[in-house]
Amino acid sequence: MGRESVQLIQSFGNKMDIKDITVKFAEPSEAKYAELIVRLIYESALQRGTGIAKRTPEYIAQKINSGKSVVALHGDRLVGFSYIESWGHGDFVATSGLIVDPEYRHLGLAGAIKAKTFELARLRFPFAKLFSITTSLPVMKLNSKMGYKPVTFSELTDDEEFWRGCEGCRNYDILQRNNRRMCLCTGMLYDPKQPLSPDERPNPYVMKMKNSIKKIFHLK
Ligand SMILES: CC(C)(COP(=O)(O)OP(=O)(O)OC[C@H]1O[C@@H](n2cnc3c(N)ncnc32)[C@H](O)[C@@H]1OP(=O)(O)O)[C@@H](O)C(=O)NCCC(=O)NCCS
Repeated sequence: MGRESVQLIQSFGNKMDIKDITVKFAEPSEAKYAELIVRLIYESALQRGTGIAKRTPEYIAQKINSGKSVVALHGDRLVGFSYIESWGHGDFVATSGLIVDPEYRHLGLAGAIKAKTFELARLRFPFAKLFSITTSLPVMKLNSKMGYKPVTFSELTDDEEFWRGCEGCRNYDILQRNNRRMCLCTGMLYDPKQPLSPDERPNPYVMKMKNSIKKIFHLK
């Protein structure tokens, strides 16, 4: 796997200038960022008031060491991250843990990280279906652009280990109550055998609205 990078040239207006942000496949030396990544993910989930699968720094470091992660770096500063994991004996690959440092948002960085993560997944698992489960509108937008479509959870992996990852989420009782058929997250799937044409791509705002309706009905 070559060391590839995407150079983003962006400006923060008067506040500060960013000359280069490098989005690339993570290397073992970057496992040192694991604690920071966990903190960024956790703090963002608290701010959004949403549920999130909890991850430990050891888990993130292992994803980095096994060549399953993408990092965004501004010099030595980690400003974004995501990773992939295969499930169901390699039939499915989930893209997870997407995070952008709050100071670096709205620059198109999540789009660049998603694209790089997609590239990594297709390189390492060319025959797998890719999926993500999310409540995030930006993520739904990005997934739709890449040809993912919304699906019920029954079309995703039935690998128990994947769903165990939801146990740390505060909405886990909703998933359990629904026999794992649905929850507040929307499931999105990219099937390499059936890529969607731009016309068929789903509207992320409609997905987000459905998500909100689900949420209302689950409020106690
Ligand atoms: C979600 C997140 C990764 C987006 O990062 P970002 O770098 O600011 O996103 P981008 O600039 O690449 O924008 C991607 C798209 O989402 C849109 N977007 C970004 N933030 C948005 C927001 N708060 N509300 C609605 N749309 C938003 C952008 O307009 C863009 O859409 P476009 O391509 O149609 O213009 C970032 O806000 C974050 O880290 N949030 C906390 C963690 C999280 O929610 N992760 C996802 C868990 S599944």
